[in-house]
This record gives sequence, structure tokens and C-alpha cells, in this order.
Amino acid sequence: MPLPGPPPAAFFGPRAPSPEPRLFRALGIESSCDETAIAVLEGDGTVRCNLVSSQVAAHAPYLGVVPELAARHHLETLPRLLAEAERVVGLDGIELVAVTRGPGLIGSLLVGTCFAAAYAWARSLPLAGVDHLEGHLVSPFLSLDGAPARDAPDPALTLVISGGHSSYFLLAGGEARPLNRTRDDAAGEVFDKLAAALGLGYPGGPIVDRLAERGDPAAFRFSPPQIKDPAGALDFSFSGLKSAAIRAARALGPLPLPDPMSPPQPVLDLVASFRRTVADWLLAPLDELTARHRPRVVAASGGVAGNRELRARLVAWGERRGIEVLLPPIALTTDNAAMIARAGQLRAARGRLDDPRALTAYPRAPWKAASGPGGKPVFPRLPGA
Ligand code: KG4
Ligand code: ZN
Repeated sequence: MPLPGPPPAAFFGPRAPSPEPRLFRALGIESSCDETAIAVLEGDGTVRCNLVSSQVAAHAPYLGVVPELAARHHLETLPRLLAEAERVVGLDGIELVAVTRGPGLIGSLLVGTCFAAAYAWARSLPLAGVDHLEGHLVSPFLSLDGAPARDAPDPALTLVISGGHSSYFLLAGGEARPLNRTRDDAAGEVFDKLAAALGLGYPGGPIVDRLAERGDPAAFRFSPPQIKDPAGALDFSFSGLKSAAIRAARALGPLPLPDPMSPPQPVLDLVASFRRTVADWLLAPLDELTARHRPRVVAASGGVAGNRELRARLVAWGERRGIEVLLPPIALTTDNAAMIARAGQLRAARGRLDDPRALTAYPRAPWKAASGPGGKPVFPRLPGA
């Protein structure tokens, strides 16, 4: 589909020559997991409207996301959010539709992609299918204060930590490359599983984070994982920590906690120690990766990037090292459509558009299944980069 306007700017890497290129005013749609979200962004990345409908109440009784319930919620909520966006900012000037294609829950993704494709097709708008991780990678460069998006300095190092991913990425020379990965559970997943075992509710990350403020982080010690790492990938592993923390909680008393609303002090100490350990392990590769890749900025994104201890420690690290640390506002750490709209704009800027009649969704990150030399994941060029 031909695009209006002059050639677009590069996101990573050198700026395009003048005349200043234009990116499209975009409608973003996110439905990959348990948040239904719609956003409208100006071409310069200014967030005009960022609507997120959480499904937490629907899934909370099951202590995790129920895929069928999630898909139904998206189906009911997307039209309502779209009407709300129309009311708040108007949709007449929309020039591009961006939607998450994967990875995520396939039923939920199909609701979002069909909705977006139908909208784009009915209005003859260009459509960009976006990888959910592309969204998390651009989110640190967005603002919710009415400011335009920043360009990512090249090279940049970004830690993506969510319910499904835990990896450092290098954004350099127009590519996003994962530098490491988790060998088992993701960081957000272990917060959720510990909280579920304790009976604290779902999602566990924010609850554990809050309770940890009242505990002693030095009360419990956890041994670091023994990972064979001949290639120096600096991979993570969190499942041993999860099991050890749940074992330690059981040793303190019966689980789930009889009164999860007011856990006893030893449990508060345990969650504080757990949070400290996750932050320690997530930040452990930072010095080495910075020495190897010399990033101009270090960023973090994904739900776990909302963690108070992790944020404070990253900022302190940046001040010590004299490296800029960029953290998205909390509302943009968890899933949202502003990041999807931005990733779609950058994709469209490279002419990478999708035919609304043929847009497919995918449940798994294709690069996670692949294995390259030294056991590192092989990652194709991140679309949008
Ligand atoms: O990015 P996100 O909304 O969805 C995925 O792409 O997975 O991340 C959700 C994850 C959940 O595991 C949630 O428990 C975790 O992020 N999370 C946190 C915090 N806020 C959300 N984990 C630790 N501390 C937090 N403050
Ligand atoms: Zn996410």
C-alpha cells in the first residue's frame, strides 16, 4: 500500500537527512495477554491517549491468566476502548493502524489482529503488525507528559523483564539483538508464582514489591544458580530461586497464608530478600555488558521494570557509572498500546506494512526456539529496528 509523505526517519542509528521526515499519526492496539489497550500517538511519538483495561479482576480467582476469559474480555473491551479514544481525541486524522501480532495468547492475539485489520481495511489505512517485544523495546523512549518520543541513542542496552521475557538487548546499527536470556522462568513469572504460593493474589509482582518495602532484605540468602556458560552469555535462571523461596515460606508456616492481607514479619523479610535477590541477579551482567558494548544509554522495560528496588538500583548504578539510565513511566512498563503504536510507526517508516487480508498472529517468539553458536538465541532483525 503506498504511503503518503516523505521518507521516514531511522529510529536506531543516524537521523535521516532533512527535510525532516514525518511519521504517521497512529492508532495502537494491544491484546496479547491480560490487558486490553488502545492508544493514539502523533507522528512524533507524542502520546495523545493511552487507554488500558486490566483483566486482573477476571483472572484473580484463578491466580493466573485464563486464556479463554482473556480472549472474551478483549472481544468485549476493544470496541468500548475505541469509542472512548474517538471521544477523547478523535480518530479522523489516524494515518496508520498498529497491532501486536505475537508472542502471546493466540486467542487474544486473534481478537486484536482481526479487529485492527478490519479497522484498517474499512478505512483504507496502512496496517503494521508488531512484535510485542518491539513495543517493550521502544517504551523507555516514550513519555506520558505530552512530550515527543526520543530517538534511541546508538548503541543502547535495554533490559526487557516481564511475565514472559528476561533478556538484555543491544540496540545498535539498526538491529535489536538479545545478548542473554533466561534458561527457565522469566523474572515476572517467579514474582507471580511466589505470590500465588503465599496466597497473596495475582499479579504477584506489584504485591510482593509493596510488601517487600516492610521487610529485611538481608534476612534470607539464596545461592546463585550454577549455569554452564562457556560462551559467556551471562544467562539468567530463576526457577531455583522460586523453589527455594517457596520452600523457605513453607518452613515458616502453612501455605497459603491464613491471613494474606497482613503477613507476619518473617514472610515480609522473605519477600524483601527475594526481591533483593531478583534485582541482584538481573543487574549482575550489567558491568560486563557495558564494558563489552559501551552503550550510550541503559534502559529497562516490561512489567518488572516497575519494581521499586530495581528502579532505584538502576538509577544509582547509572549515577555511579556516569551512564544515562532510562526507565519508562510505570504505566508504560506493563503492557500498553502506546508502545505498540510507536513500534508500528517505526516499522511503517521502513515500509514494513502488512496486508490486512493476510495478517497472521503467532503465539511464541520465533527466536526463542532457535539456538545459535554457544547456545545463544538466534534473533532475526527486530522488525522496526
Ligand atoms: O510487561 P507485562 O505487563 O506483561 C508481559 O509482557 O508479561 O509484565 C507483567 C509482569 C507480571 O509477571 C507482573 O507480576 C510483573 O510484570 N510486575 C512486577 C511489578 N509490576 C508488574 N514485578 C515486580 N515488581 C513490580 N512492581
Ligand atoms: Zn509485555
